[in-house]
Amino acid sequence: MPDQLRLLLGEDVIAQRVAELGQKIARDYRSSSQVLFVGVLNGAFIFLADIVRQLDFPHAIDFLRVASYGASTETTGAVQIRKDLEISASDRHLVIIEDIVDTGLTLSFLLGHLAGSRPRSIEVCTLLDKPSRRQVDLVPKYVGFTIPNEFVVGYGMDYNEKYRHLAGIHVCVPDPTEGIRVP
Ligand code: IMP
Repeated sequence: MPDQLRLLLGEDVIAQRVAELGQKIARDYRSSSQVLFVGVLNGAFIFLADIVRQLDFPHAIDFLRVASYGASTETTGAVQIRKDLEISASDRHLVIIEDIVDTGLTLSFLLGHLAGSRPRSIEVCTLLDKPSRRQVDLVPKYVGFTIPNEFVVGYGMDYNEKYRHLAGIHVCVPDPTEGIRVP
């Protein structure tokens, strides 16, 4: 049985909202120096690329990677850094770029990890927010869309490494017969 996909947010709707968010970030950070955008791999790679092309001030970009879902659609809560920043976060204004905040456990771990480098400030920009699933008290400053509790793919986000290339964002109901891959 194939995975079932249903379009939730089309390409044009995403492009318009991402432009608004990027322009808001540009207004907020234009007069700051030492701004570092931190992309959380892999899911945020397309979102980050679209956000930074809205910016008209000098900034740095780096990425980190955390252990995440693997084939399951539920977080385990155990978060681990797989690739850390290569640019020092110390004394910089950090903007974390996430694809989606679900339980908030990943982000809460990342905020603690990055705070250890003593940045000047840290804010979070997420394309999608599922506040109904939150397990920690965490409100991202920049949110593209608030969505219901459904598993989504596309625009960088995957299920089992599939569907990252899709231009729109789709609700995905995975094939129940496909095996769960442990990362
Ligand atoms: P959290 O720790 O539960 O907030 O999960 C955050 C991470 O889980 C995100 O950065 C995504 O990588 C992944 N994730 C959560 N929900 C979804 C989803 O609906 N589709 C794809 N990935 C998701």
